[in-house]
Amino acid sequence: MKIVIIGGTGHVGTYLVPRLVTAGHEVISVSRGNREPYSPHKAWDSVKRIQLDREEEDNAGTFAGKIRDLGPDAVIDMVCFKLESAQQLVEALRGSVQHYLFCGSVWMHGYGVEVPTIEDQARHPLEEYGIQKDAVDKYLADQSKRLGFPATSIHPGHIVGPGWNPVNPQANFNPDVFTTIAQGKELVLPNKGLETVHHVHADDVAQVFFNALHRWSAANGEGFHAVSAKAITLRGYAEAMAAWFGQKANLKYEPFEKWSESIEIQWDIDQTKTHLDHSPNHSIEKAQSLLGYQPRYSSLQAVQEAVTWLIQAGTVKVS
Ligand SMILES: NC(=O)c1ccc[n+]([C@@H]2O[C@H](COP(=O)([O-])OP(=O)(O)OC[C@H]3O[C@@H](n4cnc5c(N)ncnc54)[C@H](OP(=O)(O)O)[C@@H]3O)[C@@H](O)[C@H]2O)c1
Repeated sequence: MKIVIIGGTGHVGTYLVPRLVTAGHEVISVSRGNREPYSPHKAWDSVKRIQLDREEEDNAGTFAGKIRDLGPDAVIDMVCFKLESAQQLVEALRGSVQHYLFCGSVWMHGYGVEVPTIEDQARHPLEEYGIQKDAVDKYLADQSKRLGFPATSIHPGHIVGPGWNPVNPQANFNPDVFTTIAQGKELVLPNKGLETVHHVHADDVAQVFFNALHRWSAANGEGFHAVSAKAITLRGYAEAMAAWFGQKANLKYEPFEKWSESIEIQWDIDQTKTHLDHSPNHSIEKAQSLLGYQPRYSSLQAVQEAVTWLIQAGTVKVS
């Protein structure tokens, strides 16, 4: 198959592109050309790279036509954040592609009601990002079921892997939190530490995309969560990481407002707030049963691989 992946050099593409090439597909990666994949792989030698800025080209109305003109059998869209972007691409690709796979987000759900949340539960997106991901997911399901446009949506949780900062036990991205735990120092968690985060290794997200592509009839018109088997509470996460560092967890708890007074960086506070507000906890039953998804990593295994990389990079200091 000739596959165009938009945003192929990011977290997921780093793992997905080698999987596709190894399976014998012809792969074209479209990006602005600002970065290399997080880890090198020989597969990239046979990948054609095309430089396009999705945002600029969407605004000019030229992006979708340029993707169609590449002649793909399938398009994997890692960087679609607006309903209008999806609509432009669907109109251009209608009748010419076998499969369009959109990368959504579990943020489309907003807060949970019955957990673990399933894909088709009533949704309550909390912010523009989640509102747009929800709108694209619903639009694609409708296009597939009503008009036969072959689309699949895949919704990752917090994507983790070696090379970038994972969401930490304070529910933000500050890697110093791991240093605090590693050195046995006191860590203050917001509230009672019972809100949840739901990670997934980037290679497991790649697995969901890969399986969806190869199980067209099961995937067409459907949306799937791409998360680890189980979400974790912040308290459980902090305790497990302390044990992994050979430390006893040294935890204190404060209500969010008081906790935030002790945090210097506003972005950390904002990230913690949005993660607490969402407290993601999602089911993978649908991806398991329809796509044969078998996550290789638990949330903690994925984070520990990422933190091992952060230690080697000198970002997390164990002593
Ligand atoms: N990160 C998470 O934890 C998370 C969680 C849930 C869902 N998601 C979803 O995952 C998707 C992102 O996937 P990812 O995390 O694998 O990617 P990523 O690491 O954020 O990398 C983005 C990729 O897209 C390219 N790109 C960025 N802006 C572009 C533009 N304007 N035009 C063309 N290419 C562009 C980047 O390369 P250049 O910079 O060289 O252009 C890179 O290849 C998004 O749809 C996001 O909503 C992410």
